[in-house]
Amino acid sequence: MTAQEFLGKEEFTIQNQTVSESCPSNIALIKYWGKYENQIPANPSISFTLNHCKTNTTVEFFADEVFSVQTFLAGKEEVKFAEKIEKYFRNIEQYLPWILKGKYVIKTENTFPHSSGIASSASGFGAIAKCLMKLDETFSGKTSEEESLRKASFLARLGSGSACRSLYNGLVVWGESQVRGSSDLFAVQYPNDEIHNVFKNFNDWVLLIHEGQKSVSSTVGHGLMNTNPYADRRFQEARENFGPMKDILATGDMQRFIKLVEHEALTLHAMMMMSDPAFILMKTGTMEVINKIWDFRRETGLPLFFTLDAGANVHVLFPNDGSEEKIKSFIEAELLQHTQNNGVVKDVMKF
Ligand code: PMV
Repeated sequence: MTAQEFLGKEEFTIQNQTVSESCPSNIALIKYWGKYENQIPANPSISFTLNHCKTNTTVEFFADEVFSVQTFLAGKEEVKFAEKIEKYFRNIEQYLPWILKGKYVIKTENTFPHSSGIASSASGFGAIAKCLMKLDETFSGKTSEEESLRKASFLARLGSGSACRSLYNGLVVWGESQVRGSSDLFAVQYPNDEIHNVFKNFNDWVLLIHEGQKSVSSTVGHGLMNTNPYADRRFQEARENFGPMKDILATGDMQRFIKLVEHEALTLHAMMMMSDPAFILMKTGTMEVINKIWDFRRETGLPLFFTLDAGANVHVLFPNDGSEEKIKSFIEAELLQHTQNNGVVKDVMKF
Protein backbone atom coordinates (compact mmCIF):
# COMPACT_ATOMS: atom_id res chain seq x y z
CA MET A 1 0.00 0.00 0.00
CA THR A 2 1.09 3.58 -0.58
CA ALA A 3 0.08 6.82 1.15
CA GLN A 4 -2.00 7.65 -1.98
CA GLU A 5 -4.49 5.00 -0.91
CA PHE A 6 -5.34 7.02 2.19
CA LEU A 7 -6.28 10.20 0.29
CA GLY A 8 -9.70 11.46 1.40
CA LYS A 9 -12.89 11.69 -0.65
CA GLU A 10 -13.34 15.14 -2.22
CA GLU A 11 -17.11 14.93 -1.68
CA PHE A 12 -18.30 15.39 1.88
CA THR A 13 -21.05 17.06 3.91
CA ILE A 14 -20.01 18.61 7.19
CA GLN A 15 -22.18 19.39 10.21
CA ASN A 16 -21.74 20.17 13.91
CA GLN A 17 -20.73 16.97 15.61
CA THR A 18 -19.31 15.70 18.91
CA VAL A 19 -17.43 12.39 19.09
CA SER A 20 -15.60 10.60 21.91
CA GLU A 21 -12.98 7.86 21.80
CA SER A 22 -10.54 6.14 24.09
CA CYS A 23 -7.13 4.72 23.20
CA PRO A 24 -4.55 2.83 25.29
CA SER A 25 -0.82 3.38 25.51
CA ASN A 26 1.73 0.80 24.35
CA ILE A 27 5.23 -0.31 25.29
CA ALA A 28 7.73 -1.38 22.64
CA LEU A 29 9.69 -4.63 22.94
CA ILE A 30 11.77 -4.02 19.79
CA LYS A 31 12.23 -0.27 19.79
CA TYR A 32 11.67 2.41 17.18
CA TRP A 33 14.39 5.06 17.53
CA GLY A 34 15.31 7.03 14.43
CA LYS A 35 13.11 8.05 11.52
CA TYR A 36 13.03 9.51 8.00
CA GLU A 37 10.82 12.21 6.55
CA ASN A 38 7.04 11.90 6.98
CA GLN A 39 7.39 9.72 10.06
CA ILE A 40 8.82 6.72 8.24
CA PRO A 41 10.59 4.55 10.83
CA ALA A 42 14.25 3.66 10.32
CA ASN A 43 13.49 0.14 11.57
CA PRO A 44 10.46 -2.00 12.41
CA SER A 45 9.19 -2.22 15.99
CA ILE A 46 6.85 -4.45 17.99
CA SER A 47 4.89 -3.52 21.11
CA PHE A 48 2.45 -4.75 23.72
CA THR A 49 -0.74 -2.70 24.02
CA LEU A 50 -1.59 -1.77 27.61
CA ASN A 51 -4.98 -1.99 29.27
CA HIS A 52 -5.31 0.69 31.98
CA CYS A 53 -3.04 3.50 30.70
CA LYS A 54 -5.43 5.27 28.35
CA THR A 55 -6.39 8.64 26.93
CA ASN A 56 -10.09 9.55 26.70
CA THR A 57 -10.81 12.28 24.17
CA THR A 58 -13.88 14.24 23.09
CA VAL A 59 -13.74 16.30 19.90
CA GLU A 60 -16.40 18.95 19.30
CA PHE A 61 -16.51 20.09 15.67
CA PHE A 62 -18.25 23.33 14.72
CA ALA A 63 -18.88 23.27 10.97
CA ASP A 64 -18.22 26.26 8.74
CA GLU A 65 -16.45 28.30 11.41
CA VAL A 66 -12.94 29.63 10.84
CA PHE A 67 -10.41 26.82 11.41
CA SER A 68 -9.06 26.92 14.96
CA VAL A 69 -8.23 24.42 17.69
CA GLN A 70 -8.71 24.75 21.43
CA THR A 71 -7.51 21.94 23.71
CA PHE A 72 -8.14 21.08 27.36
CA LEU A 73 -6.14 18.50 29.29
CA ALA A 74 -7.98 17.35 32.43
CA GLY A 75 -10.09 20.51 32.29
CA LYS A 76 -7.14 22.90 31.95
CA GLU A 77 -6.62 24.79 28.71
CA GLU A 78 -3.35 23.81 26.96
CA VAL A 79 -2.33 26.38 24.35
CA LYS A 80 0.92 24.63 23.32
CA PHE A 81 -0.90 21.35 22.69
CA ALA A 82 -3.52 23.21 20.59
CA GLU A 83 -0.73 24.66 18.42
CA LYS A 84 0.68 21.17 17.89
CA ILE A 85 -2.74 19.77 16.92
CA GLU A 86 -3.42 22.71 14.60
CA LYS A 87 -0.16 21.99 12.76
CA TYR A 88 -1.00 18.28 12.68
CA PHE A 89 -4.46 18.94 11.17
CA ARG A 90 -2.94 21.17 8.46
CA ASN A 91 -0.50 18.39 7.68
CA ILE A 92 -3.18 15.71 7.13
CA GLU A 93 -5.63 17.74 5.01
CA GLN A 94 -5.06 15.58 1.90
CA TYR A 95 -6.24 12.54 3.85
CA LEU A 96 -9.27 14.29 5.43
CA PRO A 97 -10.21 17.10 3.00
CA TRP A 98 -12.87 18.54 5.38
CA ILE A 99 -10.48 18.94 8.28
CA LEU A 100 -9.74 22.66 7.99
CA LYS A 101 -13.41 23.60 7.51
CA GLY A 102 -14.41 24.16 11.09
CA LYS A 103 -13.53 24.95 14.65
CA TYR A 104 -12.47 22.32 17.21
CA VAL A 105 -12.73 22.09 20.97
CA ILE A 106 -10.79 19.01 22.12
CA LYS A 107 -11.09 17.74 25.69
CA THR A 108 -8.71 15.04 26.71
CA GLU A 109 -7.76 13.23 29.90
CA ASN A 110 -5.33 10.45 30.76
CA THR A 111 -6.12 7.64 33.19
CA PHE A 112 -2.49 7.80 34.39
CA PRO A 113 -1.07 10.79 36.30
CA HIS A 114 -0.12 13.69 34.04
CA SER A 115 3.22 14.20 35.76
CA SER A 116 4.10 10.49 35.66
CA GLY A 117 6.44 10.75 32.70
CA ILE A 118 4.42 8.02 30.96
CA ALA A 119 4.30 9.09 27.32
CA SER A 120 0.81 10.30 26.54
CA SER A 121 1.53 11.00 22.87
CA ALA A 122 0.84 7.40 21.77
CA SER A 123 -2.56 7.12 23.46
CA GLY A 124 -3.27 10.83 22.82
CA PHE A 125 -2.74 10.77 19.06
CA GLY A 126 -4.38 7.34 18.89
CA ALA A 127 -7.55 8.73 20.49
CA ILE A 128 -7.58 11.85 18.27
CA ALA A 129 -7.09 9.74 15.12
CA LYS A 130 -10.02 7.53 16.15
CA CYS A 131 -12.19 10.63 16.72
CA LEU A 132 -11.21 11.99 13.29
CA MET A 133 -12.18 8.71 11.62
CA LYS A 134 -15.55 8.84 13.40
CA LEU A 135 -16.13 12.36 12.05
CA ASP A 136 -14.97 11.23 8.60
CA GLU A 137 -17.54 8.46 8.64
CA THR A 138 -20.39 10.95 9.11
CA PHE A 139 -19.00 13.53 6.67
CA SER A 140 -17.65 11.30 3.85
CA GLY A 141 -19.52 8.01 4.27
CA LYS A 142 -18.91 4.70 5.95
CA THR A 143 -16.00 2.39 5.23
CA SER A 144 -15.32 -1.05 6.69
CA GLU A 145 -14.15 -1.23 10.28
CA GLU A 146 -10.85 -2.73 9.12
CA GLU A 147 -10.18 0.13 6.69
CA SER A 148 -11.19 2.74 9.22
CA LEU A 149 -8.83 1.28 11.84
CA ARG A 150 -5.97 1.09 9.35
CA LYS A 151 -6.48 4.72 8.35
CA ALA A 152 -6.69 5.73 12.03
CA SER A 153 -3.32 4.00 12.53
CA PHE A 154 -1.93 5.78 9.44
CA LEU A 155 -3.15 9.17 10.75
CA ALA A 156 -1.95 8.52 14.32
CA ARG A 157 1.53 7.76 12.93
CA LEU A 158 1.68 11.21 11.37
CA GLY A 159 1.03 12.70 14.83
CA SER A 160 3.47 10.55 16.81
CA GLY A 161 5.14 7.46 15.30
CA SER A 162 4.56 4.96 18.08
CA ALA A 163 0.90 6.05 18.35
CA CYS A 164 0.08 3.99 15.25
CA ARG A 165 0.65 0.81 17.31
CA SER A 166 -1.93 1.82 19.96
CA LEU A 167 -4.87 1.25 17.60
CA TYR A 168 -4.64 -2.52 17.97
CA ASN A 169 -4.67 -4.87 20.95
CA GLY A 170 -2.13 -7.55 21.73
CA LEU A 171 1.25 -7.55 20.05
CA VAL A 172 1.49 -4.93 17.32
CA VAL A 173 4.07 -4.39 14.58
CA TRP A 174 4.92 -1.18 12.79
CA GLY A 175 7.47 -1.08 9.98
CA GLU A 176 8.30 -3.36 7.07
CA SER A 177 9.54 -6.61 8.52
CA GLN A 178 9.19 -10.37 8.24
CA VAL A 179 5.70 -10.06 9.77
CA ARG A 180 2.91 -10.62 7.26
CA GLY A 181 1.24 -7.40 6.03
CA SER A 182 3.56 -5.10 8.00
CA SER A 183 4.14 -1.60 6.65
CA ASP A 184 6.05 1.60 7.35
CA LEU A 185 2.79 3.53 6.94
CA PHE A 186 0.60 1.94 9.63
CA ALA A 187 0.68 -0.77 12.26
CA VAL A 188 -0.73 -4.31 12.07
CA GLN A 189 -1.67 -6.79 14.73
CA TYR A 190 0.81 -9.64 15.16
CA PRO A 191 -1.05 -12.88 14.31
CA ASN A 192 -2.59 -14.13 17.55
CA ASP A 193 -2.30 -17.77 16.54
CA GLU A 194 1.49 -17.38 16.30
CA ILE A 195 1.81 -16.26 19.93
CA HIS A 196 2.38 -18.78 22.72
CA ASN A 197 -0.18 -18.47 25.55
CA VAL A 198 2.48 -17.47 28.08
CA PHE A 199 2.75 -14.06 26.35
CA LYS A 200 -1.02 -13.46 26.40
CA ASN A 201 -1.32 -12.96 30.14
CA PHE A 202 1.39 -10.48 31.06
CA ASN A 203 1.87 -7.70 33.61
CA ASP A 204 3.57 -4.35 33.08
CA TRP A 205 4.07 -2.42 36.31
CA VAL A 206 5.42 1.01 35.47
CA LEU A 207 7.68 2.26 38.25
CA LEU A 208 7.57 6.06 38.26
CA ILE A 209 11.22 6.83 38.97
CA HIS A 210 11.14 10.43 37.86
CA GLU A 211 7.95 12.39 37.49
CA GLY A 212 7.82 15.44 35.24
CA GLN A 213 9.32 16.72 32.02
CA LYS A 214 12.11 14.77 30.29
CA SER A 215 15.36 16.67 29.65
CA VAL A 216 15.38 15.67 25.94
CA SER A 217 12.18 15.11 23.96
CA SER A 218 11.79 12.04 21.77
CA THR A 219 11.59 14.32 18.69
CA VAL A 220 15.10 15.60 19.45
CA GLY A 221 16.27 12.06 20.33
CA HIS A 222 15.07 10.62 16.99
CA GLY A 223 16.81 13.52 15.21
CA LEU A 224 20.13 12.76 16.89
CA MET A 225 20.13 9.32 15.27
CA ASN A 226 20.81 11.12 11.95
CA THR A 227 24.38 11.80 13.03
CA ASN A 228 24.91 8.84 15.37
CA PRO A 229 27.82 6.74 14.00
CA TYR A 230 26.17 3.57 15.34
CA ALA A 231 22.74 4.26 13.82
CA ASP A 232 22.96 2.04 10.72
CA ARG A 233 24.18 -0.92 12.76
CA ARG A 234 21.35 -0.35 15.23
CA PHE A 235 18.68 -0.19 12.50
CA GLN A 236 20.03 -3.41 11.02
CA GLU A 237 20.08 -5.12 14.42
CA ALA A 238 16.45 -4.19 15.14
CA ARG A 239 15.44 -5.66 11.78
CA GLU A 240 17.43 -8.80 12.50
CA ASN A 241 15.86 -9.14 15.95
CA PHE A 242 12.52 -9.90 14.31
CA GLY A 243 13.85 -13.34 13.33
CA PRO A 244 14.48 -14.59 16.88
CA MET A 245 11.45 -12.68 18.18
CA LYS A 246 9.10 -14.57 15.86
CA ASP A 247 10.58 -17.86 16.99
CA ILE A 248 10.44 -16.89 20.69
CA LEU A 249 6.80 -15.80 20.45
CA ALA A 250 5.81 -19.06 18.78
CA THR A 251 7.69 -21.36 21.15
CA GLY A 252 7.14 -19.45 24.42
CA ASP A 253 10.88 -19.33 25.15
CA MET A 254 10.82 -17.00 28.16
CA GLN A 255 14.60 -16.93 28.74
CA ARG A 256 15.33 -15.76 25.20
CA PHE A 257 12.42 -13.30 25.38
CA ILE A 258 13.84 -11.73 28.55
CA LYS A 259 17.31 -11.45 27.03
CA LEU A 260 16.07 -9.87 23.81
CA VAL A 261 13.66 -7.40 25.46
CA GLU A 262 16.25 -6.17 27.99
CA HIS A 263 18.88 -5.90 25.25
CA GLU A 264 16.52 -3.73 23.18
CA ALA A 265 15.86 -1.42 26.16
CA LEU A 266 19.55 -1.00 26.96
CA THR A 267 20.42 -0.48 23.29
CA LEU A 268 17.89 2.37 23.09
CA HIS A 269 19.59 4.11 26.00
CA ALA A 270 23.07 3.28 24.68
CA MET A 271 22.11 5.12 21.47
CA MET A 272 21.25 8.17 23.56
CA MET A 273 24.64 8.02 25.28
CA MET A 274 26.39 7.76 21.91
CA SER A 275 24.53 10.71 20.38
CA ASP A 276 26.22 14.06 19.86
CA PRO A 277 25.37 15.81 22.11
CA ALA A 278 25.10 12.81 24.42
CA PHE A 279 22.21 12.55 26.86
CA ILE A 280 21.12 10.18 29.60
CA LEU A 281 17.47 9.79 30.58
CA MET A 282 18.00 7.05 33.16
CA LYS A 283 18.30 8.16 36.80
CA THR A 284 20.00 6.55 39.79
CA GLY A 285 16.69 4.83 40.65
CA THR A 286 16.51 3.32 37.16
CA MET A 287 19.92 1.67 37.67
CA GLU A 288 19.08 0.51 41.21
CA VAL A 289 15.91 -1.19 39.96
CA ILE A 290 17.67 -2.87 37.02
CA ASN A 291 20.41 -4.26 39.28
CA LYS A 292 17.88 -5.51 41.82
CA ILE A 293 15.87 -7.22 39.06
CA TRP A 294 19.04 -8.95 37.84
CA ASP A 295 19.96 -10.07 41.36
CA PHE A 296 16.41 -11.35 41.97
CA ARG A 297 16.45 -13.31 38.73
CA ARG A 298 19.86 -14.81 39.51
CA GLU A 299 18.71 -15.86 42.98
CA THR A 300 15.21 -17.14 42.20
CA GLY A 301 15.20 -17.95 38.48
CA LEU A 302 11.75 -16.29 38.28
CA PRO A 303 10.78 -14.46 35.06
CA LEU A 304 10.96 -10.84 36.24
CA PHE A 305 12.53 -8.41 33.76
CA PHE A 306 12.33 -4.86 32.47
CA THR A 307 12.03 -2.59 29.51
CA LEU A 308 12.44 1.19 29.26
CA ASP A 309 10.93 3.83 27.06
CA ALA A 310 12.55 7.19 26.37
CA GLY A 311 12.63 8.19 30.03
CA ALA A 312 13.71 7.16 33.53
CA ASN A 313 10.67 5.01 34.41
CA VAL A 314 11.09 1.25 34.45
CA HIS A 315 8.45 -1.01 32.92
CA VAL A 316 8.66 -4.13 35.07
CA LEU A 317 7.40 -7.15 33.12
CA PHE A 318 6.31 -10.59 34.35
CA PRO A 319 3.85 -13.25 33.21
CA ASN A 320 0.95 -14.65 35.22
CA ASP A 321 2.44 -18.12 35.26
CA GLY A 322 2.05 -19.00 38.95
CA SER A 323 5.14 -17.08 40.09
CA GLU A 324 3.46 -13.67 40.05
CA GLU A 325 2.58 -13.42 43.76
CA LYS A 326 6.25 -13.86 44.76
CA ILE A 327 7.27 -11.31 42.14
CA LYS A 328 4.65 -8.78 43.24
CA SER A 329 5.77 -9.04 46.89
CA PHE A 330 9.38 -8.48 45.79
CA ILE A 331 8.44 -5.40 43.76
CA GLU A 332 6.47 -3.93 46.68
CA ALA A 333 9.21 -4.64 49.21
CA GLU A 334 12.34 -3.88 47.18
CA LEU A 335 11.64 -1.84 44.07
CA LEU A 336 8.99 0.71 45.04
CA GLN A 337 11.46 2.48 47.34
CA HIS A 338 13.32 3.71 44.24
CA THR A 339 10.29 5.53 42.84
CA GLN A 340 9.74 9.22 43.44
CA ASN A 341 6.50 9.09 45.44
CA ASN A 342 5.86 5.37 45.73
CA GLY A 343 4.52 5.82 42.23
CA VAL A 344 3.52 2.75 40.28
CA VAL A 345 0.95 2.12 37.57
CA LYS A 346 -0.07 -1.54 37.61
CA ASP A 347 -1.05 -2.42 34.09
CA VAL A 348 -1.62 -5.60 32.11
CA MET A 349 -1.35 -6.32 28.40
CA LYS A 350 -4.56 -6.12 26.46
CA PHE A 351 -5.36 -9.08 24.24
O1 PMV B 1 6.53 7.90 18.99
P1 PMV B 1 7.64 8.70 19.57
O2 PMV B 1 8.20 9.68 18.59
O3 PMV B 1 7.30 9.31 20.89
O4 PMV B 1 8.88 7.69 19.84
C1 PMV B 1 8.79 6.64 20.73
C2 PMV B 1 10.09 5.98 20.91
C3 PMV B 1 10.18 4.91 21.98
O5 PMV B 1 9.11 4.96 22.89
C4 PMV B 1 11.46 5.12 22.76
C5 PMV B 1 10.26 3.51 21.35
C6 PMV B 1 9.00 2.96 20.76
O6 PMV B 1 9.11 2.18 19.81
O7 PMV B 1 7.90 3.27 21.27
